[in-house]
Amino acid sequence: MCTIAIYSLKGGVGKTSLAVNLAWCAATLSSRRTLLWDLDAQAASTFLIKLGKRPKRLADAVYEEEVKAGKLIRSTGIDRLDLLVADRSLRGLDGLFRSIGKKKRLAKIISTVSSEYDRIIIDCPPGLTETSDQIIRAADIVIVPVIPSPLSRRAFNEVARHIEQHHKGRTAILPVHMMVDRRRNLHGAALDENPDWPAIPYASVVEQMADRREPLGEFAPRSPAAQAFERLWRGIEKRIAKL
Ligand SMILES: Nc1ncnc2c1ncn2[C@@H]1O[C@H](COP(=O)(O)OP(=O)(O)O)[C@@H](O)[C@H]1O
Ligand SMILES: [Mg+2]
Repeated sequence: MCTIAIYSLKGGVGKTSLAVNLAWCAATLSSRRTLLWDLDAQAASTFLIKLGKRPKRLADAVYEEEVKAGKLIRSTGIDRLDLLVADRSLRGLDGLFRSIGKKKRLAKIISTVSSEYDRIIIDCPPGLTETSDQIIRAADIVIVPVIPSPLSRRAFNEVARHIEQHHKGRTAILPVHMMVDRRRNLHGAALDENPDWPAIPYASVVEQMADRREPLGEFAPRSPAAQAFERLWRGIEKRIAKL
């Protein structure tokens, strides 16, 4: 089992789009038993995957350890892909983690379901907080979407430094250029600076996921964006094999 966190200091950089599409790739292209774990109070992954019945309990009860993680898990209609739902109760998650003072609470909760999955992909909230520290401790690899710009690059450097200093560099980190538009000078320059980073193009099909409420692979598998997610996923699998 491998836990993959999709994380950034910043909001609106493509975390959820990456999480949903990579989870689809894991389940469908690599035939992995996959759990997409929505940990963001905005519950965007939960929205993007159409679900049947929603859980009765609010999500924060799982992190309080009042109910088992399995109670939040739903099958998605896509083979081998399950979703652990989020909702607005997670707005208080950071305070909760801080007040309980257990640094590995999230890792422990993940371990209660880990035997049922090969890949757990976490859609993270933004910010460098106690929640992100919990996530970094629990993850084997952290994927960081970076929009090609100096400011996003700075945010990435901060995360990399934080992991190096506070997590002794124990967690692997993989930056991904997101929403790339090669016609833009700034994007071109950022890509030239880090030509080895995987890149996902800016594409309206990615935005359409919110309308369709399904991963790209379900409605536009041959689009250049879907193929870029696929290449990225295959690269992540190779990287996992070396961990
Ligand atoms: N590669 C892309 N091309 C075009 N739009 C994108 C792409 N990736 C994300 N978006 C759009 O950008 C917005 C923010 O993306 P999202 O994945 O929700 O980011 P985050 O989870 O980091 O807040 C959404 O409207 C999404 O549809
Ligand atoms: Mg999001």
